[in-house]
Amino acid sequence: MCGIVGYIGKKNALQIILDGLQRLEYRGYDSAGVSIINDNKELITYKKKGKVSELAENIDINLFAGSVGIGHTRWATHGVPNDVNAHPQFDMDEKIALVHNGIIENYKTLKTMLQNEGYVFRSDTDTEVLTNLINYHYKSKKDLETAVRFALNEVDGTYGIACISSFEPDKIIAARKGSPLMLGIGIEEIIIGSDASAIINHTKNVIYLEDGEMCVLTKHGFQLKTIKDEDIFREIEEIEFDLQEIEKSGYDHFMLKEICEQPETIQNTYRGRINFETGVVKLGGLESIKDKIVNAKRIIITACGTSWHAGLIGEYLIEQMCRIPVEVDYASEFRYRDPVINEGDIMVVISQSGETADTLAALREAKKKGAVTVGLVNVVGSTIAREVDAGTYIHAGPEIGVASSKAFTSQVMSLILLALMIAGEKKTLSDDELKRIANDLKTLPEKIKKCVEAKDDYKFIADELKSASNFLYLGRGLNFPVALEGALKLKEISYIHAEGYPAAEMKHGPIALIDENMPVVIIAPKDKTYDKIISNIEEVKARKGKILAIASEEDNNINDYADFVIRVPKTFNLFAPIINNIPLQFLAYYIATARGCNVDQPRNLAKSVTVE
Ligand code: G6P
Repeated sequence: MCGIVGYIGKKNALQIILDGLQRLEYRGYDSAGVSIINDNKELITYKKKGKVSELAENIDINLFAGSVGIGHTRWATHGVPNDVNAHPQFDMDEKIALVHNGIIENYKTLKTMLQNEGYVFRSDTDTEVLTNLINYHYKSKKDLETAVRFALNEVDGTYGIACISSFEPDKIIAARKGSPLMLGIGIEEIIIGSDASAIINHTKNVIYLEDGEMCVLTKHGFQLKTIKDEDIFREIEEIEFDLQEIEKSGYDHFMLKEICEQPETIQNTYRGRINFETGVVKLGGLESIKDKIVNAKRIIITACGTSWHAGLIGEYLIEQMCRIPVEVDYASEFRYRDPVINEGDIMVVISQSGETADTLAALREAKKKGAVTVGLVNVVGSTIAREVDAGTYIHAGPEIGVASSKAFTSQVMSLILLALMIAGEKKTLSDDELKRIANDLKTLPEKIKKCVEAKDDYKFIADELKSASNFLYLGRGLNFPVALEGALKLKEISYIHAEGYPAAEMKHGPIALIDENMPVVIIAPKDKTYDKIISNIEEVKARKGKILAIASEEDNNINDYADFVIRVPKTFNLFAPIINNIPLQFLAYYIATARGCNVDQPRNLAKSVTVE
């Protein structure tokens, strides 16, 4: 949610900032801007409604020569996306430029105070209030760092900020509370980024800012402090991924690349964590609290969006395999309903980004109430990963496409590993069962590969169905969350209305919508619910609905019922959500591209939602 880049060093800042913004664009893309301290030590800014590419095409490179600067790509919270509301925002005197990710909650009170002092505002943003507040303090303190510190101590809400000023042209001040920010420490240069993708092609050495911290950067180095002015020492850490992992590598879209990567990413999730001879799972990150997890009286899973769907699958898996009661909560609801947390409760927090504000707030609430917390997170070093009591990274690698794909299957895989770990310890699965599961897991990447290789078949079906205005997705048991996720994917990237339902619930409402224009995607595995699913298909056909069935390879019957059939390799029940999800990702992708939608940057969405 909003991307921030800053550069201070010896090189031309503009190009580095524009490149960084391009890589961070998945965080928001309604407007973008840069401010540079030029070689005459003047503060100059260019900002624009629209994408980073439009900013880059229109900016006068010669005018923007300088080696100190900041940039921003925005996902609007306060004020419509337009040139004026784009960041950087300035103070009234246009001496201070600031980029901000987050929300200043008390901006109205501060704005009134500043207006009473004679400050005039141009934009509708909360950020402009912060710039004028810094200006206000600068007038008495005559020191930028102190002015920023005083201002930050007066704001409520969340921020990741970077600020430059012609008052003190050789520095950048950065700070964070609730919105991620990191520093890439290069040789005689420092790059600021909302995440590592803006930094990785310059250096792998990074420092993560923690909440309540600020940093003064100059060409000679940096000084880390709290916003209460206490010095901090922090070790430099190394980023684990490479540049090529965040590039498209010849694919039309990041999303397509990420869908196709799943035979490998799924292996990265379980590699070194399962003994294939015995089926015993060891999750190093959870060792310190393993006993607490195994003896949990209840497990609460919390997450948002796609991660919440993975959580629903986790509920089925853990209850079936470990016999521990599980509840799954939307993170945004959990925090506000005064949840009951008892001794022995474990909270599992699932998040791709590790920065989702609602999920983070739910985690903090659960910790406050005494729950032991476990993180299943993708982004290494993210806030959630650092705040949980223990965690296991899902290792899906950087996910750039805004609609989650490979992170979902790796989240499900991580939940399977968690369930296997508990079941092995609790003996709720026999040694034989564990071995058989491990054996089947060995074949999973190959089966996913087969699904990926069938992508042209999915494209054909997508072309047939692309004009529909509504879709229904149905599944039962473990495949019900898969139906929800399939529907969400289609909605997110093609803007077609789609709903996911447990198949048997169709007759309690959605059936009223079915007519010849309504495709129904139904997950129809050959398991104990198969006959029931066939009855659901008959109910749809009786109302002239079109059926697309996701069916097992060995199902010879399904063609008699369905208009379109996608066949997936046979697998153990617990791996079915992973296998069945892959064609649904492709279906959404191909329908969206056929409709001319920008799948990597769907309208109104952002990859990392750092506001509540
Ligand atoms: C946003 C993204 C979704 C994601 C959700 C939760 O809405 O667009 O793809 O599932 O946030 O994000 P998280 O990073 O916590 O998994």
